[in-house]
Amino acid sequence: MDKMKMETQDNILKNIEKLKEMFPEVFTESKDENGEIVTAVDAKKLEQLLSTKVIEGDESYDFTWVGKKQAMIEACKPIRKTLRPCREESVDWENTQNLYIEGDNLDVLKLLQESYLNKVKMIYIDPPYNTGSDSFIYSDDYTTDKDLYDEEVGAIDESGYHMFKNTETNGRFHSSWCSMMYPRLKLARNLLSEDGVIFISIDDHEVDNLRKLCDEVFGESNFLYQLSVVNNLNGNDNSSGMMETQEFCLIYAKDKSKTIIGVLPLEAEDSSDWQIDEFGYWKVGRCLKATGINAPREARPNLFFPIYINEDTLEFTVDEEVGAGWYHLIPLTEGKEMSWYWSKETFRNDSNEVIVKKTSEGYSLYKKQRPSLGDLPSKRGKTTFYSAKYANANSNAEIKKLFDGKKLFDYSKSTQLIKDFVCLGNVLSNEIVLDFFSGSATTAHAVMQLNAEDGGKRKFILVQLPEVCDEKSEVYKAGYKNICEIGKERIRRAGKKIVEETGKKDHDIGFRVLKLDSSNMKNVYYTPEEYNQADLMDMASNIKDDRTPEDLLYACMLEWGLELSLPHKIQTIAGCTVHIVNDGALVACFDNKISEDAIKQIAGLRPLRMVFRDSCFANDAARINVGEIFKLKSPNTTIKVL
Ligand SMILES: C[S@@+](CC[C@H](N)C(=O)[O-])C[C@H]1O[C@@H](n2cnc3c(N)ncnc32)[C@H](O)[C@@H]1O
Repeated sequence: MDKMKMETQDNILKNIEKLKEMFPEVFTESKDENGEIVTAVDAKKLEQLLSTKVIEGDESYDFTWVGKKQAMIEACKPIRKTLRPCREESVDWENTQNLYIEGDNLDVLKLLQESYLNKVKMIYIDPPYNTGSDSFIYSDDYTTDKDLYDEEVGAIDESGYHMFKNTETNGRFHSSWCSMMYPRLKLARNLLSEDGVIFISIDDHEVDNLRKLCDEVFGESNFLYQLSVVNNLNGNDNSSGMMETQEFCLIYAKDKSKTIIGVLPLEAEDSSDWQIDEFGYWKVGRCLKATGINAPREARPNLFFPIYINEDTLEFTVDEEVGAGWYHLIPLTEGKEMSWYWSKETFRNDSNEVIVKKTSEGYSLYKKQRPSLGDLPSKRGKTTFYSAKYANANSNAEIKKLFDGKKLFDYSKSTQLIKDFVCLGNVLSNEIVLDFFSGSATTAHAVMQLNAEDGGKRKFILVQLPEVCDEKSEVYKAGYKNICEIGKERIRRAGKKIVEETGKKDHDIGFRVLKLDSSNMKNVYYTPEEYNQADLMDMASNIKDDRTPEDLLYACMLEWGLELSLPHKIQTIAGCTVHIVNDGALVACFDNKISEDAIKQIAGLRPLRMVFRDSCFANDAARINVGEIFKLKSPNTTIKVL
């Protein structure tokens, strides 16, 4: 029985294995000063193998910065952390498909590698722009200059994160930002589906570096667009002479050959054909006066009746009492009495679907033609996003509207902008949008809004650091201690508003909250050899005291690559508490003593994966017995222990 690892994969080892499989000839082995075998790669040989030309000399075009190698290692370093479910702060835990994850996105992205590998259709991020005044997380390992580090890092915040204020006096101003971004982009790329795309907002400060970083991580050939987004129609005065009106959004594909860029929904002003009423888009369809051999009155006497039209408002009715004094329209063709396509009943019930037009012969009635689902009128996006709805002023107003006039967040994007990005990302129903610098949760708002408009079931995963709010700020005084509290509350309020506005209760406006934390397991779990027998006997359990069975379950789901939105239930089987994820994709029992009867019943569930605590087995014989029971009752189950 294998032991659960309870740490993320060592990506370096994984990369070496993959490379070895493809190019065994580039690997060399030698002995270091302690006589240990060390593996090395002949990079020149590898380069040569990947090129049809002769590679000469050492010169090559390379984008590099101080700390790049460390940043590359950072992306691969395994961590011993986990995501702990938090039902109390979630909304509709049982049914929702959405996730809100609190923590440093580097660790969170590492933890999501198995469960969401190749599963995310679109990533949108709006990282710190490195304006000289923003703070971000800075890993201790990136710095070699201890004095600079101590001076710049400042205090560790309440949540235990090293927030680094990157000021322009930092000699590695741009390098620090690149080192922060590189490992995150590298890990994010793994999560994109083959046809997935990433959209990254950025401004003048780092757009050049970001483009080079993305060329390296995603491949230059997967660059799609650099959008200009006009976010301040008046322009920001940056005191250098001109008024700044725009920022950018870089779009890269995981694999350009598999990417389809979506279209934007059409708005009323975009086309003279399509119009919008409270039910959606429509254009003038067929005339409701019948034609053809069955059209004359005598063929369909029931469908011959007058329709009364209010000549001022163009309202109509088939009821004489209501329409007294209104224009009296009967279906005539060249003076001959005809019929309508619809009965009186249909005219009454579907009056919203009829449009009355004045013609040279009086009036005509037409059916409103509606686009079928998936066939919404649309237009192609343009590389310049220029509209009042994309402006910062609009996003500020949106937040104020939701939070009773309070401006709680400074850098939010407009919901309309992100909604249009999601459309261009061609995120279809049931596909996932990830935002790992989510701030005030605009991406969640945009996904819920778009789903409400087109009936889609897109899901969101948001990640945000619980960055503490300044105690003097309006937001702190309003009761929000960190940015996650603002984000979660925005989703709650925006979801409620969407349901109120649409009147439809079946939208997924819920979200499961998970919080990044240290591993559930004590150190002894990872390094039992460092403890003597007496210590081990003293330790009642290798699981930390404050961890719940649900914490353990989610850690197992992460390690086994199961999506964190899967349904799960708890069942009592022969006195044991059994967690069942997605009807048996994973079954876990973390009880300390499990009877043979319980084991037999659990095996009867025929799970694909099964987890027990190692300590639940009294001895090796009991462990072997469990293996035998499963072999007999559920031979396809993979069993692991904690
Ligand atoms: C520019 S804001 C994003 C705003 C967002 N697009 C919106 O509309 O509200 C960037 C966010 O990233 C967060 N952030 C910075 N470093 C982070 C990290 N390492 N992990 C997670 N979030 C981080 C910051 O706290 C900040 O809220």
